[in-house]
Amino acid sequence: MAERKKRIVVGMSGASGAVIGVRLLAALRRLGTHETHLVVSSSGAVTAAQELGFARGDLEAAADVVHNVRDIGAAVASGSFLCEGMVIAPCSMKTLAGVANGFADNLLTRAADVMLKERRRLVLVARETPLNLAHLRNMTLATEMGAIVMPPVPAFYAHPQTIEDVVGHTVGRILDLFGIEHDEIARRWSGLADEFGGRAAREE
Ligand SMILES: Cc1cc2nc3c(=O)[nH]c(=O)nc-3n(C[C@H](O)[C@H](O)[C@H](O)COP(=O)(O)O)c2cc1C
Repeated sequence: MAERKKRIVVGMSGASGAVIGVRLLAALRRLGTHETHLVVSSSGAVTAAQELGFARGDLEAAADVVHNVRDIGAAVASGSFLCEGMVIAPCSMKTLAGVANGFADNLLTRAADVMLKERRRLVLVARETPLNLAHLRNMTLATEMGAIVMPPVPAFYAHPQTIEDVVGHTVGRILDLFGIEHDEIARRWSGLADEFGGRAAREE
């Protein structure tokens, strides 16, 4: 049987942080290891337009295959569609609520539901602040079912200089969760001794 490329489903919903999904798609395209399947909610298209000035076509051009969020019969709606897993970046609190409660009323929440039932990797780049009790409870429910809730929180210890640095770190950590080799993280943590050029260690 001919070997097929590995696949990954990328969902984008209407939380702030459309740039994370876009940069993730760009990284996967550059790395060339995975075929990307994109599902964008209608609010996801709105936030991408507001934050990035992107038309739907700009988003769709970044992916290998695009599925309409209303197409509940698309390939990614079935567990028989083989893939490595799914990332929802950014993940709104509404989409998180749908995933956490098995409420699969569109292709985005259905594909995530499938990942959980097939015990495949599901990473939710959940973005809201501050969080109410429903958000926290839904994060707990999703985690209990095996999803990884990964809010896009900056790592200040990495001394980011630009927004690109912050986004790159988040995208790098997403790729890490799938075991995908990449160069998105400019500088990985290698211990406090390295940070202080050995001084901290000597002062102990
Ligand atoms: C510019 C903009 C930014 C938003 N940011 C967030 C956010 O960070 N987190 C969130 O949960 N919802 C956010 N929302 C609200 C969601 O888009 C809204 O709840 C929507 O119904 C989510 O639908 P979806 O999950 O189907 O994409 C934002 C909306 C807009 C227009």
